[in-house]
Amino acid sequence: MKTIRFGVSLPQDLIESFDEHIRNKNYPNRSEAIRDLIRKDLISEEIIKGEDILGVLHILYDHHKRELSDKLTAVQHDHHDLIISSTHVHLDHDNCLEVILLKGNAAKITALSNQIIATKGVNDGKLYLTSKG
Ligand code: NI
Repeated sequence: MKTIRFGVSLPQDLIESFDEHIRNKNYPNRSEAIRDLIRKDLISEEIIKGEDILGVLHILYDHHKRELSDKLTAVQHDHHDLIISSTHVHLDHDNCLEVILLKGNAAKITALSNQIIATKGVNDGKLYLTSKG
């Protein structure tokens, strides 16, 4: 894809803070950091407009909790149209990690993820949203 250069003027204190942010995040240069900021903002816009996006949801849970595995499977079958795949890892005797890939309407993906994370017995969970753009 063609790359276009453009100049940006910023107040000195803002660019100093930005450079510190870049160092902390280990960005190789300002351009890469700015590209990521723009992408993040565009993803937010797609979420607001309700366009299709991609989601990666991870959850941690104890499979001994009563009927939890069955509940999590059932809710994923109910929303099979939003779920591309799921990977289950048996971390140890008690704990499971599941990584679920989602695709579709941003609001629907977010609502489904919140429902899964809020299920009793799910100890931790986080949804990461991204888009092709
Ligand atoms: Ni397991």
